[in-house]
Amino acid sequence: MVPNEERMQRFTDLLPLERMYGAWSNEAIVGGAGSFAFDLTVPGGGVPTAGVTVVGVAPTHRRRGVLRSLMRAQLDDAHERGEPLAALWASEESIYGRFGYGLASFCGEITLAREHTAFAHPFEPQGTLRLIEPEEAQAAISPVFDRIRSEWPGMFSRTPVWWENREIADPEDRRDGAGPKRWVAYEQDGSVEGYAVYRHKPGFEAGTTNAELRVLEALGTSPEALRDLWAYLLAVDWIATVKSYLLPPDHPLFLLLATPRRMRYRMGDGIWVRLVDVGAALSGRSYAGEGSIVFDVADEFCPWNEGRWKLEGGSAERSKDTPELSLPVQSLGSALLGGVSFAALRRAGRVVELNAGAIERADALFRWDRHPWCPEIF
Ligand SMILES: CC(C)(COP(=O)(O)OP(=O)(O)OC[C@H]1O[C@@H](n2cnc3c(N)ncnc32)[C@H](O)[C@@H]1OP(=O)(O)O)[C@@H](O)C(=O)NCCC(=O)NCCS
Repeated sequence: MVPNEERMQRFTDLLPLERMYGAWSNEAIVGGAGSFAFDLTVPGGGVPTAGVTVVGVAPTHRRRGVLRSLMRAQLDDAHERGEPLAALWASEESIYGRFGYGLASFCGEITLAREHTAFAHPFEPQGTLRLIEPEEAQAAISPVFDRIRSEWPGMFSRTPVWWENREIADPEDRRDGAGPKRWVAYEQDGSVEGYAVYRHKPGFEAGTTNAELRVLEALGTSPEALRDLWAYLLAVDWIATVKSYLLPPDHPLFLLLATPRRMRYRMGDGIWVRLVDVGAALSGRSYAGEGSIVFDVADEFCPWNEGRWKLEGGSAERSKDTPELSLPVQSLGSALLGGVSFAALRRAGRVVELNAGAIERADALFRWDRHPWCPEIF
């Protein structure tokens, strides 16, 4: 797509020049990469993160190391700035592992026919719903988003400009054939406790509707709020299909619906995480239990991370103790948010247990109460 003025502005507002990299050949630009600055929620906290985006190399200059040099500069700078993590959505799963990114979460899309939207158990909705105008949405919704995202590993902070630019602004070229964003707030006792944003793609065929409701984001501060919001979304009239993307594999809909198979959930990779600084990244999250573990980390691309790290009392330090788990930095990226267990990594040959029981102890420390969820591609 040719970038028009409005599209360019959308990026320049959020991507400061010093976070953009370009590759030149004979004074022509042949590649680029950038990173947003945000806090990524990790179990029990948030960590400053380089949110890698707009990566591309001109087809005339591919496979001669341009991406590699962009990744080099980007990770070196993130390290220097003191950002312990980098994270990204990959256009192809095969690209970023070599630069130390590990698959940290899974997510999936659903396509649910309207006639299969019954809930498994009857319930009385608790709150009330109110359609709100986009102008009102930012003030009404951003505080509730902040409450939810600060507890949900995998979510990231949104600045006011991000809200304006990426959530509220709704240019035609981002609608993919559907109508404008609709915002609905869920209120209990006068307080906004959840919201949904969705689009309607109208259509008729053979005299009956084949319209789609596309749920872009639906979040609630409580199980009741989330359930009631989905009950609303699934019951909108004149819809043939409800679609949503990026839902985590432990989304409550699997247990709420009478026939969850009918969602036709298709799962793929979610965000990829790279520990830029192993010590600071491991120290940035909380752990589910006491105890310690000594890792021997291999990291060819960022050799400052190589070697032994001891995690104890919630912080990770350099150590000379005997290592208990030997693993590449990608595996720590997979485990950090609690989305991939060390037992699963071992079954995939991505961690070696050097001390019997170390996998189990590491899992007892790293496990969290939910799968990481990043509800937005950045
Ligand atoms: C993906 C892309 C950025 C790669 O750029 P590039 O300059 O050709 O990559 P490099 O030459 O630096 O390659 C670095 C390594 O990645 C590998 N690689 C590059 N692109 C790859 C791909 N699409 N799939 C698998 N491996 C890939 C190379 O083989 C090389 O491997 P090596 O380290 O074993 O030698 C480029 O092909 C592109 O712009 N693709 C379309 C846009 C896109 O997918 N962007 C990513 C957005 S998330």
